[in-house]
Amino acid sequence: MDLGLKGKSVVITGGGSNIGRAIVLGFAEEGANITIGDIDTEQANKVAERARSLGAGAVQVVKTDVTNLDQVKALFQAATDKFGTVDALVNNVGWDQLQPFIQTTPDFWLKVVQINYLAVLNCTKTALDIMVPKNTGSIVSISSDASRQGEPREAVYGGTKAAVNSFMKTIAKEHGKNGIRCNAVCPGVTIPETSEEVGSNSMWTNSSSMFTQEQFEKIAKSLPLRKVGRPTDIANAVVFLSSAKRAGHVTGQVLSVSGGYSMIG
Ligand SMILES: NC(=O)c1ccc[n+]([C@@H]2O[C@H](COP(=O)([O-])OP(=O)(O)OC[C@H]3O[C@@H](n4cnc5c(N)ncnc54)[C@H](O)[C@@H]3O)[C@@H](O)[C@H]2O)c1
Repeated sequence: MDLGLKGKSVVITGGGSNIGRAIVLGFAEEGANITIGDIDTEQANKVAERARSLGAGAVQVVKTDVTNLDQVKALFQAATDKFGTVDALVNNVGWDQLQPFIQTTPDFWLKVVQINYLAVLNCTKTALDIMVPKNTGSIVSISSDASRQGEPREAVYGGTKAAVNSFMKTIAKEHGKNGIRCNAVCPGVTIPETSEEVGSNSMWTNSSSMFTQEQFEKIAKSLPLRKVGRPTDIANAVVFLSSAKRAGHVTGQVLSVSGGYSMIG
């Protein structure tokens, strides 16, 4: 199915690892022009090379800390300088360290809010400044089923992801008149297939610090589809939602891609 993404300019944050990596490769298969913003440029450059071999139009990597608005502006400037515009944004960067709320500190809360929420505001505002005058665009933010379920050990993170869902819905309402669609995708537990898919900066570099093997198996068994997610599962949904040709009437939606963990009517 042609998604009409060939030659479109897409900015993907955190494209160096795991889910972001699969999203970059998904857009590459559609022939998009890709700008990756990541703090880990070494890993992002490896992904860029793979994306080129899969048929991306062109790919550039811009070292960006998405919590820093000036760096985010430079990221989007690089995208417009090279590709003329930004047709789609994927807010993919996210971070957490699993621990009960009572053990967390204000410094931790601030870091989680900055990376998972303020960074989404930085990138969305900068993207809208480009998209609104053109009356077209798509923004997909990677949220989490933790935003819908109330996950133990993910209290602050789940709160920020619920904020992202709400934010996406509001922006969808404010800018539908500008032809801009905004959606959120909620992964459940989504793990890389090989260690090459994650960078040294990834939450999954030492996946046993997130979940033990026994916990992974227990999670898989508890899901209707009996398996944890893989990065391509999420990427497929994101690439579809970013397609004006195929998802042109879809906006303000929060889509779980989690093997049936969340079923929201
Ligand atoms: N993997 C999961 O099980 C899961 C589940 C639910 C939601 N999510 C969400 O999916 C998204 C991707 O998760 P992942 O597992 O692929 O993460 P990951 O840790 O493997 O990769 C994150 C990427 O973002 C980059 N990054 C981190 N902080 C950054 C910053 N300040 N500025 C720029 N780049 C930065 C890292 O270098 C890395 O390349 C996140 O939003 C996460 O919250 C993941």
